[in-house]
Amino acid sequence: MPTIERLRRLTLLLAWLALGLPASAVAAEAPAGEFTDTECVACHVGQDAGLLATQRDGPHAAVGCSACHGATHGRLPRARDDATCSGCHAGAAAASHANSKHGVLLTLAPPDWNAPLQRGRYRAPGCAYCHLHDGDHGNRMDPARGREQAVWVCGGCHAPRFATTQLEAGARLVAVAELKRREAAAIAGCLPTGDETRAALLARVDGHLRNVRLGAGHQSPDYQWWYGQPALDGDLIRLRDRVEHWRRGIGAEPGPDAATDAMVVRPGPDRACDPR
Ligand code: HEC
Ligand code: HEC
Ligand code: HEC
Ligand code: HEC
Ligand code: HEC
Repeated sequence: MPTIERLRRLTLLLAWLALGLPASAVAAEAPAGEFTDTECVACHVGQDAGLLATQRDGPHAAVGCSACHGATHGRLPRARDDATCSGCHAGAAAASHANSKHGVLLTLAPPDWNAPLQRGRYRAPGCAYCHLHDGDHGNRMDPARGREQAVWVCGGCHAPRFATTQLEAGARLVAVAELKRREAAAIAGCLPTGDETRAALLARVDGHLRNVRLGAGHQSPDYQWWYGQPALDGDLIRLRDRVEHWRRGIGAEPGPDAATDAMVVRPGPDRACDPR
């Protein structure tokens, strides 16, 4: 072997050892058997450090690896399958996606979940295609990461300008819904703290605001509309009605007056309180 070739091999070997590359380069076979979540992390932290970092800092930090992957190797298609996500995210998250054009296309022609979640490999995106794109174990769609991230994922199938327009329109719808949420809080501020419907009414508002966010994010105009905006308008009417209820003295509980001990209707909300 020529000296130059020996030298080249030696340099390669040294670089190999110095960089600690062997972990991923040598361990080619996924071991058989069942593993606990702690064992998954212990092995994979060496070979998939970046992936584990996104998992640790992402929304699924408290969710074990096996919740999506199962306890054995060879089940990647299962992790990618919408059914896995919907098992935990049943309700609004799953329904808004099923209601979108993407969801309908997936129902009509279920994809081959063996394909990695990469550009050009799916006709329509499932949950993991968008949220865990390219093995990202955080949340690719988190608005805090910037809109470009989402546009890049959509851009595997749509023109970036189309995706940007859709996402901007969605952000405006969410802004309108957030305005309604602030209005609801102001009206609720006119209710006496003891009002027993107050917390439930505000929880409804939060649920309907979430429906708008999900409908807009999941590209389901129907969902953001029918389960979001008009429902929020209804919440505002219900809250105002509750304030009027108290003003008329109907909501107030009768009780003994501290000074005279006579039964009186305790005062309702501050009459000057103006929710507008
Ligand atoms: C919320 C569900 C979910 C959780 C929790 C999860 N994964 Fe994943 N994981 C996936 C999906 C989906 C893929 C497929 C990504 C792709 O095809 O691009 C994947 C891919 C992988 C891959 C293969 C990456 C590649 O490029 O081939 C490894 C390794 C992995 N996960 C390890 C883990 C480990 C270790 C944990 C726990 C610390 C974990 N995952 C937790 C859903 C999850
Ligand atoms: C004893 C070490 C070890 C343990 C424990 C381990 N893995 Fe792996 N895993 C590997 C190796 C080695 C590979 C193959 C090299 C590669 O693809 O990175 C692999 C591959 C994978 C892959 C991609 C290929 C496939 O068949 O799925 C995923 C996903 C994965 N592991 C997830 C997990 C999860 C989840 C756990 C815990 C339930 C786990 N691993 C436990 C070493 C381990
Ligand atoms: C074992 C149950 C479980 C599975 C399976 C699961 N998740 Fe989650 N997911 C959670 C929990 C718990 C949270 C954190 C609390 C929350 O926001 O609901 C979460 C959070 C999220 C968030 C962030 C929500 C937010 O408010 O910011 C997204 C997006 C998400 N999951 C998508 C997925 C996708 C996509 C899959 C399938 C690949 C999946 N999840 C599988 C339990 C699960
Ligand atoms: C076309 C890409 C795409 C697909 C497919 C998709 N999502 Fe989303 N998802 C988004 C976007 C965008 C958002 C909005 C992010 C935001 O504004 O917070 C979102 C928001 C969410 C949220 C957070 C809602 C909240 O509480 O604020 C959850 C949870 C979620 N998706 C789960 C899922 C699940 C489960 C599926 C499959 C049934 C799915 N997503 C399919 C793009 C997608
Ligand atoms: C894997 C490919 C794929 C990805 C990724 C994808 N889409 Fe789609 N999308 C489709 C297909 C296919 C259709 C149906 C097109 C048709 O009407 O024939 C569609 C339809 C739509 C529609 C409805 C258009 C209409 O005419 O009603 C909107 C809006 C949309 N996508 C936005 C997005 C956004 C925003 C993202 C990223 C968050 C995204 N899509 C990600 C494939 C994709």
